[in-house]
Amino acid sequence: MSGNGMSPNLALNQLVAERQAAGEPLVHLGFGESRLPAFAPLVERLAAGARRNAYGPVAGSPAVRAAVAGYFDRRRLPTDPDRIVVAPGSKPLLMAIGLTVPGDVLLPRPAWNTYAPQARLAGKRPIAVPIPEECGGVPDPAVLREHIRAARRLGHDPRVMILTLPDNPTGTLAPPSVIRALCAIAEEEDLVIVSDEIYRDVVHDPDADYLSPAEVAPERTVVCTGLSKSLALGGWRIGAARFPDGPWGASVRDGVVSVASEVWSTLAGPMQEVAVYAFGEPEEIRERLRRSARLHGAVAREVHRIAIGAGARCRPPTGAFYVYPDFEPVREELGKHGVTDSASLARRMLDHGIVVLAGHLLGDEPGALRFKCATSMLYGETAAQQEQALAAPDPVALPHVRAVLDRVEAGFGRLL
Ligand SMILES: Cc1ncc(COP(=O)(O)O)c(C=O)c1O
Repeated sequence: MSGNGMSPNLALNQLVAERQAAGEPLVHLGFGESRLPAFAPLVERLAAGARRNAYGPVAGSPAVRAAVAGYFDRRRLPTDPDRIVVAPGSKPLLMAIGLTVPGDVLLPRPAWNTYAPQARLAGKRPIAVPIPEECGGVPDPAVLREHIRAARRLGHDPRVMILTLPDNPTGTLAPPSVIRALCAIAEEEDLVIVSDEIYRDVVHDPDADYLSPAEVAPERTVVCTGLSKSLALGGWRIGAARFPDGPWGASVRDGVVSVASEVWSTLAGPMQEVAVYAFGEPEEIRERLRRSARLHGAVAREVHRIAIGAGARCRPPTGAFYVYPDFEPVREELGKHGVTDSASLARRMLDHGIVVLAGHLLGDEPGALRFKCATSMLYGETAAQQEQALAAPDPVALPHVRAVLDRVEAGFGRLL
C-alpha cells in the first residue's frame, strides 16, 4: 500500500490548532473549509430526518436521486435519477470512481491534494500536467497531448482526466473554450473525464459562462458534486455523482454502487432528508447560495489585491474561495531571507502569523514560490459575525472582516 500518510491539509490543520491553543495568534488560510454556519432550514431538515434509521438503497432513496437529477436538469444536464448516486461526501465517490475506471490519471498541476493519493490507493499513476496561463483546475490543452504521449512512452496508461470546475487551489474557473479543447482531446485519446463540480455554485459572477464537459462530451463524463462547499456542510458529508446515459455509464455506476455497498452502505438517512431539500433548491436555498458566492468572491478578491501588493503575480479569483499567488517576480528579494522554494516560503508566512498551504503539497514544482490561501476562513469567529458577513452588501468593509484582512496584509507586507 501507498504510505500516503495523512492528508497534508488535515495535518496542517492539527498543527495550527495546537499552536493556537498554545496562544500563538495565527491567521489560518491553509484549510479549504467554508467557515459559515449551517443554514437554519437545513438544521430543521436534519432534525426532521433523525428517525430515518433504516439502511435504504445503496445509491440513495428515489426521492434524493430525483432531487439531485433535478439539480442537474436546471444546469443544462438532463438527468435520469437512475444515473445518480449519493454518498457521504464526494471524496468517497471520487475514490470509488477511481477503483472502477481502469487506467492512470491525468491531473492538473497544481491540483486539490487528494486526487494523487486517491489515484495511488487505487493502484493508478497520477500524471501531472501543467495548468494554462489563464486558469487552473485543468491540464493546459496546449501541452496535454505531449504529456499523454510521454506517459505512454514510459509504459503508463493515461485513461482518466480529472477537471476541477471551478478550481481548488487557484480559485479560477476554466472558460468554455478550454473545456471544448479538452473534450476534443478526450475524444481523440479516448479519455474518461471526471468533472469535479463541487464548487460550481461558488462561481463569483452569477452571469459567468459555465460549461460542464458533460454538455460537450456527455457519454464519457462523470460529474461529482456535493454540499460541503456551496452550503458549508463539510462535516455533514453529502456528495453526489452523475453517470452518463448508456451502457458504459451504467457499468461505471454499478461499479461505484458495488464499492459503496462494501464500504459505506449508503448516505446516512437524516442526510438524505437534508439532500432532498437542498438539491431541490427552493428560493431560500438559492438566495443562500447567491449570498455565499458573493461573500466568497468579495473576500477572495481582497486577498488577491493584498498578494499583488506584496509583489506576487496571481490569477484573479473567479470561483471557490482560494487564491494562489506566485512570488516568482520577487525571487531575488525572498532569497535574501532564505526563501528559495515553496516550503521555505510557507514557513516564512507562518513566521509572520499567516498559515498557508505550500504549492508542492498540491503537486506543484517544489522550487516554485507558490502557495494556496483559503480565504473562506476570514468571515469571523462566531456564527453571528459570519451571518453578518453573509448579509452585508460590502462584507470587506465590516470591522471584524477588515481587522483580519489587515492582519493578512501586514503578514504579506513583511515577506520581503
Ligand atoms: C476540489 C474538491 N473536490 C472534492 C472535495 C471533497 O469534498 P467532500 O468530500 O466534502 O464532498 C474538496 C474538499 O476539499 C475539494 O476541494
